[in-house]
Amino acid sequence: MTADALFPRDGTASIASQLKSGYNHKVSAMWQAERQLHKSMFIYPVFLSADPDLEEPITSLPNQYRRGINKLLPFLATLVAKGLHSVILFGSPPGPDQKDSQGSLADSLDGPIMPAIPLIRAAFPELYVIADVSLCEYTDHGHCAVCFADGSVDNEASVARVSDIALAFARAGVHCVAPSDMSDGRIRAIKLKLLAARLESKVAIMSYSAKYASCLYGPFREAAASAPAFGDRKRYLLPPPARTLARKAMLRDMHEGADMLMVKPAYPDILSDAKEVSTVPVVAMQVSGEFAMIHAAAAAGVFALKDMAMESTEIIVRSGADAILSYFTPEFLDWL
Ligand code: PBG
Repeated sequence: MTADALFPRDGTASIASQLKSGYNHKVSAMWQAERQLHKSMFIYPVFLSADPDLEEPITSLPNQYRRGINKLLPFLATLVAKGLHSVILFGSPPGPDQKDSQGSLADSLDGPIMPAIPLIRAAFPELYVIADVSLCEYTDHGHCAVCFADGSVDNEASVARVSDIALAFARAGVHCVAPSDMSDGRIRAIKLKLLAARLESKVAIMSYSAKYASCLYGPFREAAASAPAFGDRKRYLLPPPARTLARKAMLRDMHEGADMLMVKPAYPDILSDAKEVSTVPVVAMQVSGEFAMIHAAAAAGVFALKDMAMESTEIIVRSGADAILSYFTPEFLDWL
């Protein structure tokens, strides 16, 4: 068939079939992106050690380190100079003898997070500081919750413990607390404690609302030495085939006072649902397993690392994320 037959010039062609003219230039293609990546969208996950001078690579997570505060501050200074807007603090695990059933080190001055918060705030006044609120790094059983003797989750005790930790982090000066357990009622409990402490307007709650029981957290669990010693997290994290349940969890957490919702892993369908139901910013976590997969596939020659880091991040934003927790943050600060 000739070009004339495919695209008759006699006026019978459907004019609406012509799309390429709208994106055939680098600039016009860019305008087709509904939202451009911006440095302010990136939240960098860091693993803080209680040993102030520690700096050791995390073997399961390429280019990521466990750092004590004396190493973290100079490292963050280089990123802040490049335009880093926000960090989320994860605790790097204490020795096995320091873990217990309640995760006591989570909010202890002997743990990694509490003493670091005021130092990070003082060093970087403009940086938005988020603390992950969880028990799994500090519990001897590796769960994000307080458990009964039979190993099942004690929801009431978990909510009490998690909200206490959130309040301690809030008092220490974070801008935002991010509870990553999935205990029912935790957002409300945290909000009530923030209200009682008159911190309700100062501290935001970012809820890991749509948190799935994914195998993609493997490298993180190695980093945090938090692989569960018994049972599994399928009892309290969402089952991957469920979709409506995630909407229900997001709506519930918003009604309980969440200021931001998180989707983890950054599944596109769940992110677009989140964008639809949410009246607060939607945050996605590109999790450790996805990050490690991209590195592994790039090393195997499947694609160039930068191309896939870009594409996967653009898709997360296209799907509905307003901000992204990304281990690629340092690279994006150079690329953008
Ligand atoms: C819990 C927490 C986890 C992640 C973020 N917060 C691990 C888990 O739920 O087992 C996963 C992050 C990642 O895989 O990058 N503190």
